[in-house]
Amino acid sequence: MKIEGKRVLITGASSGIGLALSMVFAREKAVLALTSRRSDHLKEVAKEIGSAFPHIPTPLAIPCDVAKRENVRRLIKDCTNHLGGIDILINNAGISVYGDTERTSLEDFHSVMDVNFFGALHCMLEVIPDMKKQGKGIIVNIASVAAKHGVPYLAAYCASKAALVALSQSLRAELSKKGILIMIVYPGYTQTNIFKNEKKVGGAHRPPGPYVPASKVAEAIVRAIKAKKRDLFLSLEGRTLALFQELLPWLVENTMQRIASKLRDKKEVFNG
Ligand SMILES: NC(=O)c1ccc[n+]([C@@H]2O[C@H](COP(=O)([O-])OP(=O)(O)OC[C@H]3O[C@@H](n4cnc5c(N)ncnc54)[C@H](OP(=O)(O)O)[C@@H]3O)[C@@H](O)[C@H]2O)c1
Repeated sequence: MKIEGKRVLITGASSGIGLALSMVFAREKAVLALTSRRSDHLKEVAKEIGSAFPHIPTPLAIPCDVAKRENVRRLIKDCTNHLGGIDILINNAGISVYGDTERTSLEDFHSVMDVNFFGALHCMLEVIPDMKKQGKGIIVNIASVAAKHGVPYLAAYCASKAALVALSQSLRAELSKKGILIMIVYPGYTQTNIFKNEKKVGGAHRPPGPYVPASKVAEAIVRAIKAKKRDLFLSLEGRTLALFQELLPWLVENTMQRIASKLRDKKEVFNG
């Protein structure tokens, strides 16, 4: 499939994987609409892409909090008015909370679900009717390796990504005869700002890496879109985890327990 001329909406386009994806799509001559919450930052990104890739129209920059359904309704309306429709939606916006599950407040769980799960759902509910009318469309949901198995100290994040995968699979079955492809992407550790921006609730520390560059992840995603792939695992640990979970689930459990002990902050005592 050719990317040139395709109208692509990317959420969370101002940073990390979303920013890298915007660059790759621009290079491939897509017509871009970019969104994230921080308006100034987003406009700066759109301007930079406009000057780096003068062969495409300067990307539309539409600030939007995807957690809010009304915001998303406006976003999709604006995109459709300006571009005449959306061919590819990339649900990439995401946040994380790190630390002991017992210290993670219900508000933290809600805010992660609101962005990672409901944000993607809001966008899909708005684009699917038009994609059905067009008889085609691609929706790419950026999940995570953490959707495959609960990882210690990332309960809210893992739950939100596992829910996103289940939602994607349900929709995939329902929309299979409508010409709409739903792709699920499972990145592993990627060098982005998510770790700096995440709320830390304490009790454990992040592992040191290794981290893959966001540009490499973005290249692989665009290649997979061109090949109309349905699922994309982006790291060896992701593929291994998925395989071992099927064949040797006890080994995955034991490994998660070992990781939990290794990452626990030993000096801290938490009494609930
Ligand atoms: N980095 C990794 O290791 C990794 C691994 C697996 C999966 N992922 C997934 O990859 C996706 C991109 O994350 P990243 O690592 O590139 O993180 P990042 O650098 O922090 O980028 C996150 C993007 O999402 C936007 N965003 C956050 N909340 C939003 C909201 N409510 N509405 C609209 N936009 C919002 C941010 O911009 P504003 O703050 O301006 O809104 C930013 O553009 C996420 O879904 C993440 O879960 C990342």
